[in-house]
Amino acid sequence: MNAQELRSKYIEFFKLKEHAQIQGKSLIPENDPTVLFTTAGMHPLVPYLLGEPHPAGNRLVDYQKCIRTGDIEAVGDPSHLTFFEMLGNWSLGDYFKEGAIKMSFEFLTSPKWLGIPLEKLGVTVFQGDEIVPRDDESAKVWKELGIPESRIAYRPREDNWWGPAGTTGPCGPDSEMFFDIGKEPCGPGCGPGCACGKWLEIWNDVFMQYNKTAEGVYEPLARKCVDTGMGIERTVTILNGKQSVYDTGIFAPIIAAVEKASGYTYGSDPERDKSVRIICDHVRASAFVLGDPKAVTPSNIGAGYVLRRLIRRAVRHGRKLGIEDRLVLSPIATVVVDQLKGPYPELEENRLRIAGELDKEEQKFLETLQKGEHEFEKLLPNLMKDPRKIMSGRLAFKLYDTYGFPMELTGELAAEQGLTVNWKEFDEAFKKHQELSRAGSEQIFKGGLSDHSETTTKYHTATHLLQKALRIVLGDHVTQRGSNITAERMRFDFSHDAPMTAGEISRVEAIVNEQIKRDLPVTMAVMDLEAAKASGAMALFGEKYESQVKVYTIGDFSKEVCGGPHVEHTGNMGTFKIQKEQSSSAGVRRIRAVLG
Ligand code: ALA
Repeated sequence: MNAQELRSKYIEFFKLKEHAQIQGKSLIPENDPTVLFTTAGMHPLVPYLLGEPHPAGNRLVDYQKCIRTGDIEAVGDPSHLTFFEMLGNWSLGDYFKEGAIKMSFEFLTSPKWLGIPLEKLGVTVFQGDEIVPRDDESAKVWKELGIPESRIAYRPREDNWWGPAGTTGPCGPDSEMFFDIGKEPCGPGCGPGCACGKWLEIWNDVFMQYNKTAEGVYEPLARKCVDTGMGIERTVTILNGKQSVYDTGIFAPIIAAVEKASGYTYGSDPERDKSVRIICDHVRASAFVLGDPKAVTPSNIGAGYVLRRLIRRAVRHGRKLGIEDRLVLSPIATVVVDQLKGPYPELEENRLRIAGELDKEEQKFLETLQKGEHEFEKLLPNLMKDPRKIMSGRLAFKLYDTYGFPMELTGELAAEQGLTVNWKEFDEAFKKHQELSRAGSEQIFKGGLSDHSETTTKYHTATHLLQKALRIVLGDHVTQRGSNITAERMRFDFSHDAPMTAGEISRVEAIVNEQIKRDLPVTMAVMDLEAAKASGAMALFGEKYESQVKVYTIGDFSKEVCGGPHVEHTGNMGTFKIQKEQSSSAGVRRIRAVLG
């Protein structure tokens, strides 16, 4: 089944269930300063979920274009995309849990509709907290429909509570539907909702019961609503027996366009394949942003900045495929326009603007790159005279600072000539330039570490893995409150209210050890604090940062603003073991762990 068939079937199914089809809206939300883009189908419906009558009635269905950039670093893996389409149905005070779940189930499993085998489905429901009790009602409906208890996972607020991307608005517990792609479970706690890659989320039924106010109060909604969202790309993936969104017909023509532009054959090399996928995603997202009636263009702020970043990242990955000094993005975008102009006629209407703006931005960035490369070449004769083959960090910083030349590219050009860049000196030049005050900022660049021995460096990287693993297992409220590292052990303080259970501790250990086993590369980039935050990098709670910060990325797993140092690959860090978990102060827990 292709995307168009899925879109039509979904709309047809819910029309038969007396839903009125409404138009999806702009990618740029109306009058909403809390988000840059429409991140879900419910976004344009917020006033109606809060109680305003909808002219089309109390049962609605649509498809909506969405952008989420929080996981931009994960793009290129099998399931993360910045741009995606969401199918959604809504009840405005009409049916609630039972009705929503029964309709979801019928659409997913009935041979007349998607016909997904029952044994491939798993669900999660809200496990309950001080505000709302455990959602036994939803669990009961799932069980009655035939989902066995073993494939119903009860998960906390961080996983099974949904509200719009801003902090206020309609929200409530949700029940998410997952497809088992058939991989082995990652451990005894592995079930629907586990982040190990076995369970792919395809649909979410949100039971909107509250309006969260700016003061953080949960006001009950006058009428309870349902908000659902099904990801088109992921659902097409599983319906076609694939494991990656990029292996579907949605991406095939875009991949072909990248192959044509680059001369590279997809499938020849894993690293370059990933670049192909990133280009596909970023060009698709850029085409939709540029094709939106709200007419965003590349700039240094807001949605325009995200657009610029998408385009520039696409160009940089193009270079990895050998595309240099040629404009290639607009022909790739043309394929996206041709493919999706049916459901999104605005793409056709803005065809010229999409191509024109892409060409302009690509050209501008190429000039920046050319200027930087030219300067590098001028430096080269002198650099080659150095018998140690080291390029000084001061010179690398000059290229970055004066010409805006991305530091990774300096590293690449240097490597091509057999040179190594002195990044430590780069950091120092950078630091000097920023005239970092001793208080606060010192921390960022040194990470509080004066000892840079191999062992402490491993522990430092382990804190990043640990923080992310804690967030996966305990939820997004977990943030680092402090750390202390010696050559023998690490201590890590984080926000969390309750003692961890033995199961939680072993899941956290398993996730950290899994990342060590995956031998993930650790990379560093210097960027504006704003850009770092926009990219989803974690930063220390309550820390004051300079406007430019270093961001360390560990493969597709973690991303944090940090001073380093870190290992280059996670592979030889040893085995991570939590020795002790105890209270540190009110609302803060402390973990002592070792790498053995
Ligand atoms: N608004 C819900 C989501 O995006 C359906 O998951």
